[in-house]
Amino acid sequence: MSDALIIARIDSGRASPSNLNLGSRPFNVAASGRSTEDNALEQSPAQIEFRNVTKRYGQVTAVQDVSLTVRRGEFLTILGPSGSGKTTALMLLAGFVAPTEGDILIAGNSVAAVPSYRRDQGIVFQSYALFPHLTVRRNLEFPLEMRGVNAGDRLKRVDRILERVHLKDFGGRMPSQLSGGQQQRVALARALIADPPFLLLDEPLGALDRNLREQMQIEMKTLHKEFGITTICVTHDQEEALTLSDRIVVMRAGRIEQTDRPEALYDRPASRFVANFLGEANILENLDCDVESNAPQPPGTVPMIRPERICVAAPGAPTRSDERQRQSVTGIVEDMIYAGPLRKYHVRVGSSVLVAREHAASGQQIFRQGDTVQLDWLQSDVRFVEA
Ligand SMILES: Nc1ncnc2c1ncn2[C@@H]1O[C@H](COP(=O)(O)OP(=O)(O)O)[C@@H](O)[C@H]1O
Ligand SMILES: [Mg+2]
Repeated sequence: MSDALIIARIDSGRASPSNLNLGSRPFNVAASGRSTEDNALEQSPAQIEFRNVTKRYGQVTAVQDVSLTVRRGEFLTILGPSGSGKTTALMLLAGFVAPTEGDILIAGNSVAAVPSYRRDQGIVFQSYALFPHLTVRRNLEFPLEMRGVNAGDRLKRVDRILERVHLKDFGGRMPSQLSGGQQQRVALARALIADPPFLLLDEPLGALDRNLREQMQIEMKTLHKEFGITTICVTHDQEEALTLSDRIVVMRAGRIEQTDRPEALYDRPASRFVANFLGEANILENLDCDVESNAPQPPGTVPMIRPERICVAAPGAPTRSDERQRQSVTGIVEDMIYAGPLRKYHVRVGSSVLVAREHAASGQQIFRQGDTVQLDWLQSDVRFVEA
């Protein structure tokens, strides 16, 4: 299943101060760059917990030993390549599939054994699969009708949600008379209208083109702030994950590879997989020349540096950084890609090719294919990641 916009209402035990399970595992956050808002989120109670959850389909293990706590109000993204178990994790949470092992708690109560039909469970929508023959207003009324809300209240709630998603004047239109972004907003409004305890999104922006996707990312972020609803979003798009999330869970082959805040995940990836999946990474292991390092390399790891941390200069040029901290190699430019405000160099160093990315500043020397250059970086910018 893909591209589904899911809203699950799983209410076996609404949160009350006595049954809230605060969880024992603290947020894994970077030491710096935290705002008051971040801290507030950390102190927010656990709303959803996966405890050692495994889901097997015959021989295939779709989700393996996943433990995870989602806090009230958090925007959490599950990021991973196709087949890594993201949709299965959402299906488990929505109650559409049952765990083979482990437990899932919502507001402190186990729901793993509760069949989906007994969960007052939500509705599954394909990504903006609005009913084509119904107006926007009727599309929005539908989930309320299903819940037996009377006509007067339906009217009020539809008005209110249309206002909140900035579609006040669009209630009478048919979905086909809306842009892709507007349809997406109606789909979100329909998911939110019955006040669900949390929102589940599966590749919600996957069908939109790039510009619209970026615009919708900002809108979704704003909506999340306004509604304050706990949101779990599944995507394979790293940019989307970085833009939207309070925290990102990186999945690989059914397992959680790393969970952290976007900045921390990018700056301190635990493994080569995460480093490569979230951005570009230079692995410094097979450099033919010596890269001196005073920092001890933990066993089982390789040194990694991000392209924007590498400085490209003419050989022998004085460098900006502290000599004792500086590591430098010489290489030959294989190509230079000019991308608006950025220049990206591929530089051959022995048997490796390193990628360096520079902001195009005026007066800066530009190197071409075949030029010999010096690459240098600060040792403190090197990360050791699991090989
Ligand atoms: N109903 C199913 N029956 C058998 N295998 C499944 C089923 N659903 C998912 N899988 C398998 O489980 C793995 C994870 O799938 P999925 O959760 O859909 O990944 P993702 O959403 O990350 O692309 C894949 O190998 C997939 O083929
Ligand atoms: Mg999927």
